[in-house]
Amino acid sequence: MLFDPEPKTRREDLYDRENELKSLLTYLKKERLIIIYGVRRVGKTSLLKVALSEAAIPYAYIDIRGMYDKSGNVSPSLFLKDLVDSFKRNLVFYERVKFDIRGALNNLRGFRFKDFEIEFSPIVKVDLHDLFKRIDDWCIDHGIRFILALDEAQYLRYSRFYSLLLSWIFDNLKEITIVLAGSEVGLLQDFLESSKIGRPLGGRVKFEIKLDRFNLEQSIDFLEKGFLQTNVRPGVDEIEKTVRELDGIVGWLTMYGRYRVSGLSHEESLSKTIKEAESIVRDELYNLIKDSKERYFTILKSICQGYNSWAAIKDYLEMKVSRMADSHFNYLLNRLVKFGFIEKNRDGYSITDPILIRVLKS
Ligand SMILES: Nc1ncnc2c1ncn2[C@@H]1O[C@H](COP(=O)(O)OP(=O)(O)OP(=O)(O)O)[C@@H](O)[C@H]1O
Ligand SMILES: [Mg+2]
Repeated sequence: MLFDPEPKTRREDLYDRENELKSLLTYLKKERLIIIYGVRRVGKTSLLKVALSEAAIPYAYIDIRGMYDKSGNVSPSLFLKDLVDSFKRNLVFYERVKFDIRGALNNLRGFRFKDFEIEFSPIVKVDLHDLFKRIDDWCIDHGIRFILALDEAQYLRYSRFYSLLLSWIFDNLKEITIVLAGSEVGLLQDFLESSKIGRPLGGRVKFEIKLDRFNLEQSIDFLEKGFLQTNVRPGVDEIEKTVRELDGIVGWLTMYGRYRVSGLSHEESLSKTIKEAESIVRDELYNLIKDSKERYFTILKSICQGYNSWAAIKDYLEMKVSRMADSHFNYLLNRLVKFGFIEKNRDGYSITDPILIRVLKS
């Protein structure tokens, strides 16, 4: 169902994204490092999960943001635990694609295998380099590859360990493909640069997919197709109004669709979606700006009011708050870009999500 709130895992539940899926499937079969960018709730995880289930290549998927949110850090032992959980979830899939995890990790301390079970002792220290090397060796021997998919990978920047680990995998192993997805685009780029993973070795070594919002036509079509899978038939004007309010951000459109098919009226569904979305965005924003609230808010408000050039925003900020060195202003502005709250295009700076505009206005 298109309005299912979970990230999609099956091709038939994924609206469009034909080209992105095709590129990703091609890259997964051939390349070593793939990056998926896109602002929040645009469908990165869905694209990645659908591709992983279609590619018929053994993989492990870890949601690094989930790991960080649960524990407040991204230590290697948490990474290992989530990695093992992913192995466990995929055992049947591994069997289908003829990947023998038991054979690959044979005799690795801390692991015990039963028929369809992996037992793992968290107190044993496992070297992740060793673990991936064993998987790589097995894959080389059997002529297949393994995908390590790390979602919201920008959170890896909290530990230097991962830049070293991923660079090492990239430089030394042959059959492990790394996929990194992230919504805080600038932070993911920073992580890649600082770790030098995929640095050009005399050629192009990293493959990028950027997911954009749906355009007006796609957004309307998405809602219409979603409702066709149910017995709810909203009016054309209701669909258009919804798209005008929520723009082409598929996460919000899905939320609206879900409320609407649960029996709520158009007005109730839209207002509930907006309320919930505002609360999510407000939390995300507060998390970022707590160190310099007034300044970040003023920058965002100025963009909201139509000041979109570097100089105009800076003037506005200086008029409302205080004078500021260019370098400090650049830092604040770039952080908002890096976290994906604003973006810069030919016409200057703009807010990426209409819900954030509402939050700022309220
Ligand atoms: N192409 C699509 N077709 C149908 N539903 C989609 C599509 N893309 C995303 N969705 C839905 O939109 C919501 C957000 O999707 P998803 O979690 O994949 O996005 P994301 O970019 O990974 O979000 P986040 O930035 O929060 O991690 C989910 O409810 C998902 O089911
Ligand atoms: Mg996601």
